[in-house]
Amino acid sequence: MLYDRLKSRRSIRKFQNKEVEKEKMDVILKSALLSPSSRSIRPWQFIAVTDTELIRQLSLCKDHGSQFLAGAPFAIIVIADQESSDVWIEDASIAAAIIQLTAQDLDLGSCWIQIRERFHSKQVTAEEYIREVLGIPEQYSVECMIAVGYPGEEKKPYEEDLLPYQKLHFNKFQV
Ligand SMILES: Cc1cc2nc3c(=O)[nH]c(=O)nc-3n(C[C@H](O)[C@H](O)[C@H](O)COP(=O)(O)O)c2cc1C
Repeated sequence: MLYDRLKSRRSIRKFQNKEVEKEKMDVILKSALLSPSSRSIRPWQFIAVTDTELIRQLSLCKDHGSQFLAGAPFAIIVIADQESSDVWIEDASIAAAIIQLTAQDLDLGSCWIQIRERFHSKQVTAEEYIREVLGIPEQYSVECMIAVGYPGEEKKPYEEDLLPYQKLHFNKFQV
């Protein structure tokens, strides 16, 4: 059941030194293309990166929170055409989440790396840096990168008893 998979879903930042099979990469990428989007505009595009040197360069896009990508065999960069939809952020986020859940369903680990609103240096945004590394045209915004690979770390699943139930409201907002 998906709910059981969700309880054990954790961000994985350490990966085994093992390639992700092409069949699994294809399933993940096709899943991304199945993502729902507002008015079905599908403003997103996905860049699948397996080149070790490119992954190393991408891992340097921010001063923290992205370095671990250097140890991942596979990265998916989620970009979207801002002009084509006013809700491209929502659309791209949903696709990124679907990428992560599909990866988990294939016994892979993954972690989101935030790019939008993040900086490479004082002068250069993380987005500009990535655009340069991957040759992404100006019209596309870079939302995030998803690191994917076979897990090289074990993380405890979430415990149902400890969920933040106070965030749930029924019928009306309860103070
Ligand atoms: C929008 C978003 C941005 C995130 N950005 C980063 C990031 O830049 N680097 C990173 O290592 N983890 C990032 N994460 C992963 C979170 O740190 C992680 O989901 C959170 O700590 C909860 O841990 P869990 O995923 O294991 O449940 C991000 C997650 C989300 C949803």
